[in-house]
Amino acid sequence: MSSREMIDACMKHSLFSWSATGKVDPIPVARAERIYLYGPEGQRWIDFNSQLMSVNIGHGHPKVIKAIQDQAAELAYAYPGMATEIRARLSLRLAELVPGDLNTFFYCLGGAEANENAIKAVRMFTGRHKILVRYRSYHGATHGAISLTGDPRRWPTEPGMPGVVRVMDPRPYEFSFGSTDEEIVANNLRYLEEVIQYEGPKNIAAMFIETVTGTNGILPPPKGYLQGLKALLERHGILLVTDEVMCGWGRTGKLFAFEHGGIVPDICTMAKGLTSSYLPLGVMAVSDRIANHFRENVFWGGLTYNAHPLCLASALAAVNVLVEEGMVENAARMGDVMRGHMERLAAKHRCVKEHRNIGLFGTIELRKNSRGERLVPYAGSHPAMPKLGKFLRDNGLFTVLQWSMVMCNPPLCITEPEMAESFDIIDRGLDIIDEAFEG
Ligand SMILES: Cc1ncc(COP(=O)(O)O)c(C=O)c1O
Repeated sequence: MSSREMIDACMKHSLFSWSATGKVDPIPVARAERIYLYGPEGQRWIDFNSQLMSVNIGHGHPKVIKAIQDQAAELAYAYPGMATEIRARLSLRLAELVPGDLNTFFYCLGGAEANENAIKAVRMFTGRHKILVRYRSYHGATHGAISLTGDPRRWPTEPGMPGVVRVMDPRPYEFSFGSTDEEIVANNLRYLEEVIQYEGPKNIAAMFIETVTGTNGILPPPKGYLQGLKALLERHGILLVTDEVMCGWGRTGKLFAFEHGGIVPDICTMAKGLTSSYLPLGVMAVSDRIANHFRENVFWGGLTYNAHPLCLASALAAVNVLVEEGMVENAARMGDVMRGHMERLAAKHRCVKEHRNIGLFGTIELRKNSRGERLVPYAGSHPAMPKLGKFLRDNGLFTVLQWSMVMCNPPLCITEPEMAESFDIIDRGLDIIDEAFEG
C-alpha cells in the first residue's frame, strides 16, 4: 500500500486513541530498524521517542523476532492454568534480574492491566480499600488505572473508581514545596502524612507512584524522596507500588528507576520495555511477603491471555538483548551525551525554559516569555507546537510533543552520531518557538 492508501483506510475504519479520528495525522510506517522508522515510499524518521517510550532495544532485533517465531512454531498458546517452559524460564530470569525480594510475577497484557491487578492485590493483601496517587501521573486507560491517573486524561471518565485519594507530587506544576531537595522532601512528606491522618491510615492499602514521572514531565524524584516515602508508608502499614511501565527496563540508566533511590517497593508494575513492545506484555512483580499471602489465599484475577507464551518469549529475548548488549550502560552513558546537547540548546535558544533527563528519559520544556511562563498552559495548547511537530517530522524526526515539552526518549541502542543528528534537527526546529517568544 502507498502512504496515502494506508492513512485513508486507517482513518476511515479504525479509531485512534486519545484523538478525534478525523483530525489525526498519522505517520505511515512500513518497517523499522534500530532507531529508524521507514515509510512505504522510503521516507525515514528517527524514532526519538522509542514509539511510546517502549521500544527500548530498538526496532527489528533479529534475536527477538527469532524467539517469537520459534515459540510460535513450538507452542503458541496454553491456557493460564498450565505450566509451560517459557513461563518457567522467564519467571526464573525475572527473579534473577528484578532487585530485592520481588520474585513472583503475574503476567497480563500491558501497563494498565498490571496496575489493575496491583489495585486488586493491595486491597486483598491489606484488607484496606483506599489508594494514594499523585496528580502528575499516568497509570493507564482502563477503569481503575485511569482513576489512579492524575492527568487530564482522567477527566472524561470521572467519577471513576471509588477510594482513590490524590495528593501533590514533590514537584507539582507551579506550587513549590521548597528550593532544595532536602526541603522539598521534608515538606512534601509532612504534607502527605497529614493527608494520611485525615484519610485514616488503617483505610489506606497502598500508594502508587511512577518512580520517575513520565508523560507528565519526566520528573525524577528529589534526592531522599523514595527512601523517606517508603519509611513513612511502612510506619502506617501502607504498601508502595512503583509503576515502572515507562521508566523501567533500562530507560533511566539502571534496570529499574527505584534502584536510583536505594529502595525496593512492595509491588512493581512493568510493561513496555519488558518486551520492547515486540508483543504486548505487562507484569505485576510482588514481594515474597505478598506472594506468600497468595499461596494461601486466592488471587482473584485472571485473563485468557495470562502468561501468553508468545509474549513471554518476546520478553525473555528482549530482556536478554537489553542486558547482554550493554544497553542499560549505554543509556547511562548516552544520558550524559544527551544532557550536553540539551545544555547547548538551552544556551542558544531563548525559548528553552529547562531540560531534564535521567539516562535516556528526557524532555526539553519550552517557555513563551522571559518571565519563564510555559509555552503551553497545563492541559492547554499553543499554535507554535504543531508547527514544531510538522518541522521535526518533515525533517526526519518523530517524537511526542506533550504540552510545552519536546520528549527525548530514543531507543537505548542509540549512538553518539545518531544523537547529534537528532539534536541538530531539534535545534533547527526550536527556531520556530524562538520566533513565537513574547519577550
Ligand atoms: C507510567 C505508565 N503506567 C501505565 C501505562 C499504561 O500502559 P499500557 O498503555 O501498556 O496499558 C503507561 C503508558 O504509557 C505509563 O506510562
